[in-house]
Amino acid sequence: MANDQILSVEHLCKHFVLKKSLNKEKQVYVKAVDDVSFTVSKGETLGIVGESGCGKSTLGRSLLRLWEPTSGDIYFNGENIMSYDSRQLRELRKDMQYIFQDPYSSMNPKMTIRDIIVEPLDNFHKEMSSKEKEDKVAHLLDIVGLSPDVMNRYPHEFSGGQRQRIVIARGIALNPQLLVCDESVSALDVSVQAQIINLLQKLKKQFNLTYLFISHDLRVVKFISDRIMVLYLGQIMEIAPSDTLFSDPKHPYTRSLIGSISKGNPRNRQERVILEGEIPNPMNLPKGCPFSTRCPVATDKCREQKPLLRPVGENQYASCFYA
Ligand SMILES: Nc1ncnc2c1ncn2[C@@H]1O[C@H](COP(=O)(O)OP(=O)(O)OP(=O)(O)O)[C@@H](O)[C@H]1O
Ligand SMILES: [Mg+2]
Repeated sequence: MANDQILSVEHLCKHFVLKKSLNKEKQVYVKAVDDVSFTVSKGETLGIVGESGCGKSTLGRSLLRLWEPTSGDIYFNGENIMSYDSRQLRELRKDMQYIFQDPYSSMNPKMTIRDIIVEPLDNFHKEMSSKEKEDKVAHLLDIVGLSPDVMNRYPHEFSGGQRQRIVIARGIALNPQLLVCDESVSALDVSVQAQIINLLQKLKKQFNLTYLFISHDLRVVKFISDRIMVLYLGQIMEIAPSDTLFSDPKHPYTRSLIGSISKGNPRNRQERVILEGEIPNPMNLPKGCPFSTRCPVATDKCREQKPLLRPVGENQYASCFYA
């Protein structure tokens, strides 16, 4: 493994069993993440994009073993964390943090901002005095652009953008190396989105962070990401440097996603593809390529065989027979 890799994921699967049965054939499950492999370099921002329900949050949580993967391996700084026991996993929380989708529901409304941000310090820095922790909380608030005076207030008193700053402050409290940001700006107005993205960029430099940045919005991901992974029904359709993905998308699904956002922008001459057809039921995926039911170029081969992720350009991989 190259030294600059912080994360390496091999054949990760997370299948939710919806109906248990002794007969495996009769078991009903959702393959929320299905055989996903990729690497992330230190200091990189990898965007993870795809439609609602494609498995972005499940992938993010499984990577930290917040949700136990069904199978696969996850190497963090070269160590396979799938073999970690609960004590080691607890230690890992310092280095890998997950910022939950929807900060409002991930914050206890009865806790003050101080209590919310101090929680990780209480859990991991028992040696710190109350005064030291209070100072640290004030410092963290300052770093994310909030006044330390807000410490005694409650989550409902803040705007969406401010709440996002608060969860980011909590996310960086333990000096993590890797931060998974799940839809961190999706619910915000465009101008506030830009502020939060700028904040994340600033923090990345300041603390040498690596980001996995999850969003269903390709426009948002484009701004912040070095590389982008496109997910569809739990599988990687394409992964490429951000510029390449937009200038030369190889997978028909990526092309249709880009087409759907370039609508209304006359300067963008990208071929426009309208996504047709329904997303298949995740409990009953097509046998071949998961996108074959909506793909404009699918053939019988696509409906029968699953294309594997393969190199299609410099640093660019797609799972399509015709890419
Ligand atoms: N706890 C669970 N039990 C069963 N199925 C689940 C569970 N959590 C998620 N799923 C299913 O797994 C799939 C992926 O869900 P996930 O929340 O990861 O998608 P997502 O890409 O994050 O979507 P969104 O953009 O809406 O946040 C969906 O089909 C979802 O219904
Ligand atoms: Mg999600």
